[in-house]
Amino acid sequence: MNREAIVTELLSWFFRVKRDLPWRSTYDPYHVWVSEIMLQQTQMERGIRYFLEWIERFPDLVSVAQAPEQEILKMWEGLGYYSRARNLHRAAKIMIREHGGVVPCSSAALIGLPGIGPYTAAAIASIAGNEDIAAVDANVCRVFSRLFDIAEPIKTSKARNRISSLAEELLPRGRARQFNQALMDLGGLVCTPKIPRCSDCPLHKECRACNNGLVQLRPVKSPG
Ligand code: ADE
Repeated sequence: MNREAIVTELLSWFFRVKRDLPWRSTYDPYHVWVSEIMLQQTQMERGIRYFLEWIERFPDLVSVAQAPEQEILKMWEGLGYYSRARNLHRAAKIMIREHGGVVPCSSAALIGLPGIGPYTAAAIASIAGNEDIAAVDANVCRVFSRLFDIAEPIKTSKARNRISSLAEELLPRGRARQFNQALMDLGGLVCTPKIPRCSDCPLHKECRACNNGLVQLRPVKSPG
């Protein structure tokens, strides 16, 4: 397995086809945080629509912290999982009080804030702060399970731990922002769950599942 080839192919593909998402124009940590929370359990198209409306109503962290909860919840109407909105509101107040009025960009400062677990902290820190940390969500898990032909059921901690180490090993230092988002886009656009577009994949030469004819069988769903 040629690690360097994987990184090079992936990054050059990302520069060619990356999605023009609204929070990617400035990588403002506030924008990145809101987008990460909205995209949990939400389709990209719907996430973009809500994100743009949210930013129009709440252009910065202070405007979120100062808004009444009813207004926060109103902007969230239709997205579901309202605890995400309540946590955004609570976290905004804490960031104003304890983080100098900004969204922190380091995973250490982010983790443990309301609504921010290890994945979300890694995503924000890498995308907004370019911190060298892998962000492995369900899409990225699928990409790795195929790329490295992981035969363990994907939900087991063995598979998860293996994928996390592979992602950390592969991550090119100083390029986490591009690397993580490239994997997210690859999972969202090419290495899709049901009918992956392997002929369009920049990693098809390196992909073990593809080379073994096992793409349809990866990731492995349940034990047994
Ligand atoms: N899913 C979650 N965060 C994302 C991002 N920044 N880009 C693309 N897909 C994502």
